Amino acid sequence: MEYDTPLFFHVMQYAAAADRDVIDMVSGNPDWEPPGALRDGLREYADADANAFQYPPSDGLQELREEIASRRNVDVGRVIVTNGAGEANYLAMARALERGAGSELLLTDPVYPYYPGKAGMLDADVTLVPTKRDGHLDVAAFREAASEATAAIVVNSPNNPTGAVYDAETMRALAAVAEANDALLVSDEVYDHFDFSGEFTSALSLSSPNCVVTNAYSKSMAITGFRVGYAVFPPALVEAAKTRHMLVNVTGSRPAQTAVLRALRETDPSYYEASRELLRERIDAFTDALDDAGAEYTTPEGAFYVLAKFEGFPGTLSNVERLVDEAGVAGMPGDTFGTAHEDWIRFALVTPRATEAAERLADYF
Ligand SMILES: Cc1ncc(COP(=O)(O)O)c(C=O)c1O
Repeated sequence: MEYDTPLFFHVMQYAAAADRDVIDMVSGNPDWEPPGALRDGLREYADADANAFQYPPSDGLQELREEIASRRNVDVGRVIVTNGAGEANYLAMARALERGAGSELLLTDPVYPYYPGKAGMLDADVTLVPTKRDGHLDVAAFREAASEATAAIVVNSPNNPTGAVYDAETMRALAAVAEANDALLVSDEVYDHFDFSGEFTSALSLSSPNCVVTNAYSKSMAITGFRVGYAVFPPALVEAAKTRHMLVNVTGSRPAQTAVLRALRETDPSYYEASRELLRERIDAFTDALDDAGAEYTTPEGAFYVLAKFEGFPGTLSNVERLVDEAGVAGMPGDTFGTAHEDWIRFALVTPRATEAAERLADYF
């Protein structure tokens, strides 16, 4: 398999090499501070005994797994600490495929591009199920698409790139489709702290034996570089997933897990509320300016991405590059996310310059 440079690296490099000031709205790296307790945990770690610099248990620090299990109200044996939600998604998809209950993954269109990427690496057949125009799921379309060939349905709520949040009824219906077809429902909940709608429903609340939940602290604690996430598997499926995690990674990072544990215990809910509030304000200001630019756009119910469509300016890679050169704003081409929003451009609102970027877009268009 050839190494394929992810498109977002390409766009970021193009923007960095541009001959002008460019506002980067490509990557999903939060631009705000991590919790103070996380920094404290790291500082303290630097002076720990040398034995604290050695392998943690493969499935994660026991105390961290217990903290996650008690917060998520699941048995600790079901929790694997992973290298971010990315690894958790890989483990879940691989586990679904190796069960011998189908070789197909049902994904949404628009889709987070690493899902089809992983599916390809795992030799799975991919079926993209179109979402509704507003990014919400058409459960009937999933019901129709699912069959005994389906190994898993993989969804993400709050969603990247559409910003849709799937409500309890949708999640229940998806789990029922998975159960009826002896498939897994893989629910990637990495943006769970960024729900502005109040509708977010974790698949863990469904108590379905067919659900795998994946998550991470990458976004909620603004630490995409730490690589601490987790997967919660059904009891019957967890052991083989632990084995795969161990054989691929040996284990995860002990300092990062220790700092996250401290931050989990000591961070006040107001920390998370403050980042939601910051994003709410940015979304309002950004979408107001998109109105001035005459654009059609999605208003996120969660996560921190806006898809925008500019009349007569399809969101191709060459137009995205033109926008870098001529407007000083970098976004992601819509066709990165499947076929449904090919003409659109995705903007990540994790920059303090989001409003300025939207004003540049308004001037340009
Ligand atoms: C939907 C989704 N899942 C997973 C990830 C990867 O998360 P992590 O950095 O924790 O691996 C991202 C990152 O942008 C994402 O948008």
